[in-house]
Amino acid sequence: MTRIFVPKDAAALALGANKLAAKIAGEAKARGQAMEIVRTGSRGAFFLEPLIEVETPQGRIGYGPVSAADVASLFDAGFLSGGAYPQRIGKPEEHPFLKGQTRLTFARCGIIDPLSLSDYAAQDGFRGLKRAIEIGPQAIVAEVTKSGLRGRGGAGFPTGIKWKTAADTSADRKYVVCNADEGDSGTFADRMIMEGDPFALIEGMTICGIGIGATKGYVYCRSEYPHAGRTFAEAIQIALEAGYLGPKILGSGYAFELELRMGAGAYICGEETSLLDSLEGKRGIVRAKPPLPAHKGLFGKPTIINNVLSLVAVPTVLDRGAEFYAGFGFGRSRGTMPIQIAGNVRYGGLYETGFGLTLGEIVDGIGGGTYSGRPVRAVQCGGPLGAYFPRALFDTRYDYEAFTAKDGLLGHGGIVVFDDTVDMAKMARFAMEFCAVESCGKCTPCRIGSVRGMEVIDRVLEGVRPAENIALLEDLCNTMKFGSLCALGGFVPFPVMSAIRHFREDFRPRALAAAE
Ligand SMILES: Cc1cc2nc3c(=O)[nH]c(=O)nc-3n(C[C@H](O)[C@H](O)[C@H](O)COP(=O)(O)O)c2cc1C
Ligand code: SF4
Repeated sequence: MTRIFVPKDAAALALGANKLAAKIAGEAKARGQAMEIVRTGSRGAFFLEPLIEVETPQGRIGYGPVSAADVASLFDAGFLSGGAYPQRIGKPEEHPFLKGQTRLTFARCGIIDPLSLSDYAAQDGFRGLKRAIEIGPQAIVAEVTKSGLRGRGGAGFPTGIKWKTAADTSADRKYVVCNADEGDSGTFADRMIMEGDPFALIEGMTICGIGIGATKGYVYCRSEYPHAGRTFAEAIQIALEAGYLGPKILGSGYAFELELRMGAGAYICGEETSLLDSLEGKRGIVRAKPPLPAHKGLFGKPTIINNVLSLVAVPTVLDRGAEFYAGFGFGRSRGTMPIQIAGNVRYGGLYETGFGLTLGEIVDGIGGGTYSGRPVRAVQCGGPLGAYFPRALFDTRYDYEAFTAKDGLLGHGGIVVFDDTVDMAKMARFAMEFCAVESCGKCTPCRIGSVRGMEVIDRVLEGVRPAENIALLEDLCNTMKFGSLCALGGFVPFPVMSAIRHFREDFRPRALAAAE
């Protein structure tokens, strides 16, 4: 029977994928054509969504973007056997957006039925877990360390070193916590995994549990991700029933159980210690470090907190070896990064590749410039705490060190593009406002400084002693940078200062600017 693949990723659903699937089923029935609809995740080429694919003897053929209104004409064009159609893209993996990618973390996303264990196993699923069980905890941690994998949640801390700290700490209980709060603007990779390849996260967390000696894990999922939550909860149940979770994983002596918790809807609950407070049922407030969570984390026990993408990279490291994974990337940034290109961009979506492209190659080459067709003026990399890059810095290499050298941040891999209509003074003010709204309130530089920051920017724009107030703003930014307890207050100066440094002309008094 012909199989048709229709995504059920939230981005595709927002663009009418459910209506489209229903229309295809109805049309096939009316025409007496036998077929099966398989719901998948997304391949991440959002400008092609909804992207449907049909299985033909030549391989899968894609059509996108298509809507329910196209269905009758798709049938007329013989799409069930790969017939010609204006939106026919041929084999998806040969589409320019997908062809240049190195998909390790997203190898299965958009291809398999996310809740089919047999699909998952047929595409190398659980091979990493099997090897992990064979080699045991010490060798697991050594392999992850050797791979050079660094945390994909924002800070880029070496994952293996963190795991070793928790593994070497003795305790009656340890925990693995997956940070799926995904609060950064323009990011959606964690969501795509939970909706499109949830067993990969289960596998990565289980390997971590075996590696550090934890038998319980929690996934803390962003509250705005109902689809991800539902799919992941189902995946946990399926994995449990099949023995991939539970008291004897794959019949081994290792136990691991998993619980899903929906987040509290606060940006700060993505910060690891606030997240722990929130998981414990408290209001999310940043904890002072030390102690590190790896020593004293959830309920006071040694805890590994890793981002979804860090954990999903682990099965590949175990299955194909640390050297294979470390073979991708640049300098000390090893492996691949699922880059999320968003904002005013022509080809928005997820692009996984080894570190090392330039920012210009990503924005102009892969992203195709702006959606509006106007010139790109700025891109914000790394979420709301990341710097704004002007075109003059588009030769910056996409790796942790190169970005740090330019006072930037890779963060969780988000890139938000702006055209030449953007007002960078407004963006700087927004950064301060965001910090004021999202601050947990524990420390003064962030709680008070962010409010004062908004006021100072307002004064500059009102023409009140602008030069003096810009100097004051720079001083305030330094206080926040060096005096804040966590990276919310500590990093918000980066978008603000980069806006001043690279787009100083936008900080003129508004009355003056309007008169010109
Ligand atoms: C304000 C703030 C928000 C954060 N939000 C997230 C988030 O949404 N997801 C995430 O994985 N890490 C987030 N982090 C980073 C975490 O504190 C932590 O570094 C990360 O979960 C560690 O996992 P990793 O080593 O795999 O990156 C945030 C940090 C700060 C300071
Ligand atoms: S910097 Fe802000 S969010 Fe972080 S601890 Fe201080 S008040 Fe809380």
